[in-house]
Amino acid sequence: MTEALAVITIDGPSGVGKSTISRKVARVLGFTYLDTGAMYRAVGLFLQWNRVDLSDDQAMRSILAKIHIQLLPGKNEDDDTGVLLNGEDVSGTIRTPEMAMVASKVSAIPLVREKLTMLQRQLGNIGGVVAEGRDTGTVVFPRARYKFFLDARPEERARRRVRQLCMRGEAVDERKILEMTLERDKNDRERAIAPLRQAEDAWVIDTTSRDIDEVTHLVLEVIRAGRKKT
Ligand code: DC
Repeated sequence: MTEALAVITIDGPSGVGKSTISRKVARVLGFTYLDTGAMYRAVGLFLQWNRVDLSDDQAMRSILAKIHIQLLPGKNEDDDTGVLLNGEDVSGTIRTPEMAMVASKVSAIPLVREKLTMLQRQLGNIGGVVAEGRDTGTVVFPRARYKFFLDARPEERARRRVRQLCMRGEAVDERKILEMTLERDKNDRERAIAPLRQAEDAWVIDTTSRDIDEVTHLVLEVIRAGRKKT
């Protein structure tokens, strides 16, 4: 049997609290937090900037070779991961609901997944990483030491997203956010490659009626007790 990697994966749909919980777990363990969604958002933005025909493999290969993504850890625990895209700070630009949809769309393209999976493995294979995303436990780090899959009811996830956007001072249409949440779920769960699904050896936690601290505590409890899911 191959030895497990010192990597913890936290996957699930949007709005389940993955990012905050992953950052907290990483801080407590002294691990690096790897936000894989930020990378898909950055690629989506770059493809949009360059108006690439997504169905043209040759054009896609050539543009993907030109992308350089640098992740910047947030200054505070509540800050999202920042991103430098070919040296330009796009940290705020990639965090809109529209960019989330673009990221979801481009994340179904095999060449995009190939490139980002490779980059994520380069960052994670040294160990000491909490990776967060959709396929980190199933595809990117199948040998991760601990895997978690967070889920919650879509209405609650949309409600959290609305609250987050309001806190940023953005005007939001609640019904539209729920529709976008459901559409993104469908895209992410039904795509042919690396769809969103729980790994068989992942601990599943429903966060609908649990707060961030409760879920963080549950995750850390599993890790500290060395409990293995078989
Ligand atoms: O986690 P997020 O909301 O920032 O992710 C944005 C989109 O990126 C998500 O809808 C699907 C895609 N994604 C992915 O396909 N695989 C990942 N590991 C992370 C994100």
